[in-house]
Amino acid sequence: MTEIAHAIRLGVNIDHVATVRNARGSAYPDPLRAALLAEEAGADGITAHLREDRRHIRDADIDALMAGLTRPLNLEMAATAEMQAIALRHKPHAVCLVPEKREERTTEGGLDVARDENRLGHFIAPLREAGSRVSMFIAPDARQIEASARIGAAVVELHTGAYCDFHAEGRFAERDSELEALRRAAALAHSLGLEVHAGHGLTYDTVTPIAAIAEVKELNIGHFLIAEAIFRGLGPAIAEMRRLMDLARSA
Ligand code: PXP
Repeated sequence: MTEIAHAIRLGVNIDHVATVRNARGSAYPDPLRAALLAEEAGADGITAHLREDRRHIRDADIDALMAGLTRPLNLEMAATAEMQAIALRHKPHAVCLVPEKREERTTEGGLDVARDENRLGHFIAPLREAGSRVSMFIAPDARQIEASARIGAAVVELHTGAYCDFHAEGRFAERDSELEALRRAAALAHSLGLEVHAGHGLTYDTVTPIAAIAEVKELNIGHFLIAEAIFRGLGPAIAEMRRLMDLARSA
């Protein structure tokens, strides 16, 4: 595996390659082929969310990604017994726990680690023992960060969805206060010994202030990159995101 030298890593989420495939019930486009292209274009890792309803990524995709990737796989999943068994079978580099509601279009909020602390602590223990780096996908909220640290998670992934939505809606004062919350959350998580990641909804227009947060070590980005690939191709779409992240970090 190539040594990873980037100050901030880019995890490319390839779920929506599978969405396009499933729309026609065809065998293409192949998520593994997209993932290998993403690796060539500057992705440090590949992210895939195996949802309970298998609406995009399917079990066979996880088999193929585990067998074919040259960079680490970050498996996003709900904290259910079924998903735990799948993760323990594959032992991916990373497991990111996300809340999941059947009716939602995408992951809408963060995980309520504070409310579910005891159960989640027991849930992640075997995953940690199996060698997966466990991450909690949470809102930038001190209670959730502190609970994540208490249960022994290695990573928190801060939900950037609200920040991105405020930006898209032109609600700039709210966007800026959400950005401030993300900055404070990153500093708190880092001070508690957690590695800090961020993601959800990021685009070329919103990535720079997030990539500039010194404590953030990884961004996971999917939907925008797959959408942008329609216009410029997947490799160039990812390479531009990589460039913006590196620029934000060097500024
Ligand atoms: N991080 C997590 C935990 C997610 O659930 C998702 C969406 O699957 C992403 C990042 C990527 O979000 P987007 O596809 O909006 O870039």
